[in-house]
Amino acid sequence: AQPPRTVTVTGAAGNIGYALLFRIASGEMLGADVPVRLRLLEVPAALRAAEGTAMELADAAFPLLADVQVTHDPAVAFDGVQHALLVGARPRSAGMERGDLLEANGGIFGPQGQAINDHAAEDVRVVVVGNPANTNALIAASHARDVPADRFTALTRLDHNRAVSQLAAKAGVAVTDVDGITVWGNHSATQFPDLTHARVRVGGADGGWRPALEVVDAGWAAEEFIPRVAERGAEIISVRGASSAASAASATIDHMRDWFLGTGVGTDGQARRTSAAIVSDGSYGVPEGLISSFPVVSEGGQWRIVPGLEPDAALLPDAAERLERTVAELDEEREAVTGLGLL
Ligand code: NAI
Repeated sequence: AQPPRTVTVTGAAGNIGYALLFRIASGEMLGADVPVRLRLLEVPAALRAAEGTAMELADAAFPLLADVQVTHDPAVAFDGVQHALLVGARPRSAGMERGDLLEANGGIFGPQGQAINDHAAEDVRVVVVGNPANTNALIAASHARDVPADRFTALTRLDHNRAVSQLAAKAGVAVTDVDGITVWGNHSATQFPDLTHARVRVGGADGGWRPALEVVDAGWAAEEFIPRVAERGAEIISVRGASSAASAASATIDHMRDWFLGTGVGTDGQARRTSAAIVSDGSYGVPEGLISSFPVVSEGGQWRIVPGLEPDAALLPDAAERLERTVAELDEEREAVTGLGLL
């Protein structure tokens, strides 16, 4: 058997944590032959609830679950961590200004980044789920000077999965018959889910791949698809009465599994692409160092930005502006947290 891998989940007593932990313990994230050691980090007020979740994890008798530890101390939680899932964050409360929100989260993600720097394993991989996810990831990375910047990522896979599902439904095909979507930029309302290089396979397994914007019309893409995906979180809250939790957990698993095990090849034998917020190397005009969502593949345990997929203005007239707008927002957030002394 392989040695256990250490997985830390912050905000473990929260809604996403509850949907996430059991799937990790069942082997869905790292593979059916990899035992896991779970570290649950919570604030003191939620420790008892996290203990309750740990009891349920024991009750599930997962063959792959080697150990569970619950703590409020980041130094303990991140000791030897190989997969850090940073879910716990400070939500925006009524009347809270953006600066207050960034500052409150800086108070969480700065120390957690420092603890990762001081205690994590050499091969640590971090995904930030707690909002504002991209900028929280930037803050954590900036406090982990000894950890390569490309180990800090933020979750836009939920947005990507939502986009896949919306396109498949509109085209009347299975989700496996859709590929090539990119979510660009920030995990926020400015995000740009881009169909200009997407494809749809019409006619099932024996069918041929066609450009998505020949199968669905560009007007739908601009007027319905983009806002629908970007505002899906709010739609879930209004219908469900609570924010996305199981779908966010599922996307977090997809992100970490693809990062660790690779994105592999699609049904057509070509590299399978997805979207993830990773540190920019300056590609696509995104300022270096920002943690922005890109078209990516994962190979050899590393994310790589796929070049040559500039949003196509011939198919969506304001494509370039949409990319610029969401990147500008990330740049403003970086300036704001720099101004607050959080980097
Ligand atoms: P929740 O409020 O149910 O749970 C959050 C948990 O984090 C709470 O138990 C809280 O005690 C804990 N926490 C707060 N500060 C902490 C700290 N310093 N250390 C450890 N734990 C801490 O929230 P939920 O629904 O689980 O969502 C968590 C976060 O995920 C939110 O910020 C939400 O906005 C974000 N989110 C991100 C998505 C994405 O696609 N990137 C999608 C959905 C939610």
